[in-house]
Amino acid sequence: KLFYKNCDLKNQTILCRVDFNVPLTPDGKIDNNNRIKACLPTIEYILSVEGTKLILMSHLGRPDGQVKPELTLAPVAVELEKLLGGKAKVHFNKDCQKAEEDVQKLGVHEILLLENLRYYPQEEKNDAAFAQKLASYGTFYINDAFGTAHRAHASTEGITKYFPGKCACGELMGLEVKYLDGACTQPTRPLVGILGGAKVSDKLNVVTNLVQKCDKLIIGGGMAYTFLKAQGKEIGKSLLQADRISFCEDILKKYGDKILLPIDAVCVETLDFKNRQCSEPSYHEMDAIPATLECVDIGPKTVELFSKTIREAKTVIWNGPMGVFEIEALSKGTFAIAHALAEATAAGAITVVGGGDSASAIKKSGEKVSHVSTGGGASLEYLEGKVLPGLEALTDC
Ligand code: 3PG
Repeated sequence: KLFYKNCDLKNQTILCRVDFNVPLTPDGKIDNNNRIKACLPTIEYILSVEGTKLILMSHLGRPDGQVKPELTLAPVAVELEKLLGGKAKVHFNKDCQKAEEDVQKLGVHEILLLENLRYYPQEEKNDAAFAQKLASYGTFYINDAFGTAHRAHASTEGITKYFPGKCACGELMGLEVKYLDGACTQPTRPLVGILGGAKVSDKLNVVTNLVQKCDKLIIGGGMAYTFLKAQGKEIGKSLLQADRISFCEDILKKYGDKILLPIDAVCVETLDFKNRQCSEPSYHEMDAIPATLECVDIGPKTVELFSKTIREAKTVIWNGPMGVFEIEALSKGTFAIAHALAEATAAGAITVVGGGDSASAIKKSGEKVSHVSTGGGASLEYLEGKVLPGLEALTDC
């Protein structure tokens, strides 16, 4: 019922929250337009309905409630018009608090993109008057900003109160929920979770939630070494969060039979992440990690073990790389896992990649999976089992 295609949008002026928080180059150009492209199905559908006008709103970066010209959405308006290939005119409004005139002038099947919502501190404060002002521009509200659904902000949460019975989720939000919810709540089994990334502390809740749902939970990346230490292994100079050892011990005690950890590793003596450089990598079994070395990628035996488990899965959820994949010499493990996911996908499994680093890794690898989430923080909170305020507000509305 919440899906926008199930609603009567005819002749409505639609206010649509999107997540155009795109990465920018140091000289302010759009570095990657994926998030704009991801909203095109929603935009194109809205414009195909008789008599619609479309007002898009988004944040960009974290300007802390101030006008920061380097975080203007103006280039996004230009990029969007280009991506629409002449299908619609995209106007740009320079002040989201003063858009009445531009809204008035907007023609049928035209788009107005409002300037960065976070130029106003009221957006993040979920200020009611600010939400009401934004709401006054439209007659129907659609939220397609999955990437921002974990924020209870004026444009994602507060605003829904002004559209009773006239709220819906867009195509992208629907797709994200379909895949993430499908994988987390009604998976075809076996369900295999893969967690990676640097710190256990960033993923405590994801580990706790996923380990209960999964048939197998693969743990790689920097976070694996605190688990291995908890098992009594010597991990050399690998990343260790000593204050999280007891958390790892508890998880291993309760769910040890479900958890797969690295059995070998690629190690280096020195790593300069900023300059993407490292000393000559060497290979070691997990029982023989030299005290002077740091594990920075999973080794070939681990790749084989993890890949076999992934290929046997019917549903896979992946969040976090297996090593420092940004450095080519340390990327083999992460790309091998991406390949195993693609093999599982080809064999009919549903494979879902959470946003952030794993999304960049899958993109870099060129491998095909069922769904790559556009939400970093949002997909992580979803995997933690949290209710996302942006979604909850739609349901309430
Ligand atoms: C993201 O990039 O994860 C979203 O756009 C949310 O951005 P935020 O973390 O600045 O709220």
